[in-house]
Amino acid sequence: MSTVAVTGSASGIGAATATRLRDAGHRVIGVDLRSADVPADLAATEGRTAAVEGVLDRCDGVLDGLVACAGLGPHVDDVARIAQVNYFGTVAVIDGLFPALRKGTAAAAVVVSSVASTHLKWEENPLTEAIETGDESLIAEAVAAGGDYRGQFAYAAGKNALTVAVRRRAAEWGAAGVRLNTVAPGSVDTPLLAATAEDPRYGEAIRGFTAPIPRHGRPDEIAALACYLLGPDAGFVHGAQFVVDGGIDALLRPTVF
Ligand code: NAI
Repeated sequence: MSTVAVTGSASGIGAATATRLRDAGHRVIGVDLRSADVPADLAATEGRTAAVEGVLDRCDGVLDGLVACAGLGPHVDDVARIAQVNYFGTVAVIDGLFPALRKGTAAAAVVVSSVASTHLKWEENPLTEAIETGDESLIAEAVAAGGDYRGQFAYAAGKNALTVAVRRRAAEWGAAGVRLNTVAPGSVDTPLLAATAEDPRYGEAIRGFTAPIPRHGRPDEIAALACYLLGPDAGFVHGAQFVVDGGIDALLRPTVF
């Protein structure tokens, strides 16, 4: 049995991942705003510290796996909070738990990014100054150019930065014996997608778009990949991003990969 921390464990992909891990006999330490072993708000520094310390307490400083799922969708009105949770909160948790993962057995981490991470290039990412300075008060203005769609801009920019952050850690984490990968889902049936579909700005696009596999993903289909990436069969898989979107990326960008 290994010990795995899962953020966003109370709902959607995180809940499906926690269930799958428990069913396979692993010990799960869930982190979420509520209904979790470690209640914590990853939007702010205190909550991030509480999340890391709460997990470290429960695992005695030794962790075999981490799945970082907690996140907000583009429909959320507080656009700064989208990037605070999806980028800054996630990076704080993976970095804060890295020392514990180093002590784990065949340890690995999976970060849930999004296919939206590919919607802009890093060179065009409006969050770079906020990221480089660590000044989260810059986020709202940085994404204001998105106008009515600044939530989507904050979402895509935050996820783009998150995937870059993972790839930039590949050398250090690999040398430390901890594998680290991202999963980039397309539309997956969760409360996050349902809320985004109800939003007048994004609903039509979600309802009207048909992927080559003409349905939304199921949370457990993402959880299955996350669990594979944590396990021994993925021993040489590191620093990679896996798009799980029913074929939308291939449909829209067949020559870009
Ligand atoms: P969800 O809304 O079902 O679950 C997200 C969880 O994150 C919730 O339990 C929520 O309480 C938690 N969370 C939100 N803000 C938090 C905070 N400040 N501190 C701690 N926990 C917080 O959503 P879903 O769809 O399962 O999302 C999981 C991840 O998958 C997110 O990172 C999301 O961006 C990503 N994703 C989801 C897609 C989808 O279509 N559902 C598509 C692509 C990526």
